[in-house]
Amino acid sequence: MINYLSELKVTSPLMLDDTLSLQIINKDNISPAYIRWMNDPEVVKYTEQRFVRTSVTDIKSYLQKMEDSPADILFGIYQKSSHIGTVKLGAINIWHKTAVLSYLIGAKDQWGKGIASRAISEMTEIGFSVLGLDKIIAGVYANNTASARVLEKNNFELEGIRKSQFIFENDRIDALLYGRRKLNG
Ligand SMILES: CC(C)(COP(=O)(O)OP(=O)(O)OC[C@H]1O[C@@H](n2cnc3c(N)ncnc32)[C@H](O)[C@@H]1OP(=O)(O)O)[C@@H](O)C(=O)NCCC(=O)NCCS
Repeated sequence: MINYLSELKVTSPLMLDDTLSLQIINKDNISPAYIRWMNDPEVVKYTEQRFVRTSVTDIKSYLQKMEDSPADILFGIYQKSSHIGTVKLGAINIWHKTAVLSYLIGAKDQWGKGIASRAISEMTEIGFSVLGLDKIIAGVYANNTASARVLEKNNFELEGIRKSQFIFENDRIDALLYGRRKLNG
């Protein structure tokens, strides 16, 4: 599994259609847009990222960490040559054959076009077919309806609800825990 992971990290773009692709993000050529979305309250509203400000240096060191990690694979999502988001399989556990999926479409003009759904579909396929995983999980804030929807469209099942897990706008909200087994098809 680890060998496959290092091969994936040097691969050429994985084309999802004529213009949409997954690519390893070059840490020496970070787009200004990437920094902008990571600090855009509307984009990070339903993520833990909302609590911090992110600099170029932070992103560079994060990308280096991802590159070096035997347990994470992070791709940029690109529309032609524009970097519009990220998708990741993290916390890859070779003993249990599991990983945690996360995703973010930072370019707000690209929301609602099916891009996260396609990126998740490709990433799940990589997880199951290339990395040999048996199960992929993902967690969403209960009020992030679009995010729950993209998981459900990709055959993730709601496996549990962790009650009142997050503080959100002076309230406490639930965490929805999703999972997909390889056997689910
Ligand atoms: C959530 C997010 C990943 C969705 O990406 P996307 O590319 O716009 O998603 P898609 O276009 O593939 O699918 C969105 C689905 O949610 C639905 N949807 C969008 N907003 C919705 C809302 N407010 N209520 C209900 N459904 C909604 C869309 O109709 C679509 O479903 P459909 O295909 O059945 O019509 C994207 O908006 C994003 O990255 N947001 C910021 C970061 C984030 O929240 N990441 C996830 C953290 S868990």
